[in-house]
Amino acid sequence: MTNVTDGPLVLGIETSCDETGAGIVRGRELLADEVASSMDQHARFGGVVPEVASRAHLEAMVPVIEGAFAKAGVRPADIDAVAVTAGPGLAGALMVGVAAAKAYAYALGKPLYGVNHLAAHVAVDQLEHGPLPAPCMALLVSGGHSSLLLVPDITGEVVSLGATIDDAAGEAYDKVARVLGMPFPGGPPIDRAAASGDPAAIRFPRAKLHDGSYDFSFAGLKTAVARWVEARRDAGEPVPVADVAASFQEAVVDVLVTRARRAAADVGARALCLAGGVAANSLLRTRVSQACADDGIGAFLPSRALCTDNAAMVAAAGWWRLQHGGASLLTLGADPNLRLATSA
Ligand code: KG4
Ligand code: ZN
Repeated sequence: MTNVTDGPLVLGIETSCDETGAGIVRGRELLADEVASSMDQHARFGGVVPEVASRAHLEAMVPVIEGAFAKAGVRPADIDAVAVTAGPGLAGALMVGVAAAKAYAYALGKPLYGVNHLAAHVAVDQLEHGPLPAPCMALLVSGGHSSLLLVPDITGEVVSLGATIDDAAGEAYDKVARVLGMPFPGGPPIDRAAASGDPAAIRFPRAKLHDGSYDFSFAGLKTAVARWVEARRDAGEPVPVADVAASFQEAVVDVLVTRARRAAADVGARALCLAGGVAANSLLRTRVSQACADDGIGAFLPSRALCTDNAAMVAAAGWWRLQHGGASLLTLGADPNLRLATSA
């Protein structure tokens, strides 16, 4: 096992969406996690505009990387490896990060590691809680992903067991929030409103996918909520916002926790780890902790800042990759659809 405090220094670069990130770790110790977001430039379009994001990455890349070196108190020449998100994500945005990472790796004469964004979300927890027990099940839930990932052990490849077949969990929160007249992103206001609502007020549907599947579906639930609210408005009746929020949240969390728990039991996981923006949800955190305590397995809940997209996770994944060699070539390309290994 690598000594944590004098482990290798890894620079991680993340540009898969609107965040330009540069993170530096020394082994499992986080030294810097700098981020510049172009979200204000996208707000008026109601979503991330890929070309705008790519240009913003170009402008922010070098200052963000220099900021990370300054924050960490290390020089570029001290770095032992450069890691970068190679995918999945927006093609043009990824290309900026990959080009920057290649330039630094080549100029410094250090190995380059192209990492998968989803695996990086899981790798980040070790910066706060040390090594994950093996095998571990990870539930990655954000605006872009809802996935169940199997982490065999630190030397193995992260395996995708299931994913959303339509909307991601965070996307469902954002769409339901819009129906209820709440601001974007919708997760935090729904979470707050749900606190004073009755989760049993309305029985919203839980998608039943074929037996044995670890996939998710949230489009039907989102539509059911929209229809229910519309019917109340058409009838001239007031919409009980807190009850709708609480009942919707209950359905989402119920599906996520039931599925994650079953997957964890099926593979004999020793822990369940949460990742992604929705991992900030108060009900989800409580239910995951409860379920893990009941099932006698560990619950790993990273802090909110490390759950959302950041570059510390890319550096952590780079360090992870360093444990079992296999650097990328300087011909590494960005792959918007980069896949994890999938289970048979
Ligand atoms: O990981 P993230 O910051 O960005 C990406 O999607 O890549 O995740 C953002 C998502 C949004 O859909 C937001 O509504 C959701 O995370 N979110 C939450 C909460 N905080 C953020 N969802 C439920 N409850 C929350 N407290
Ligand atoms: Zn992400």
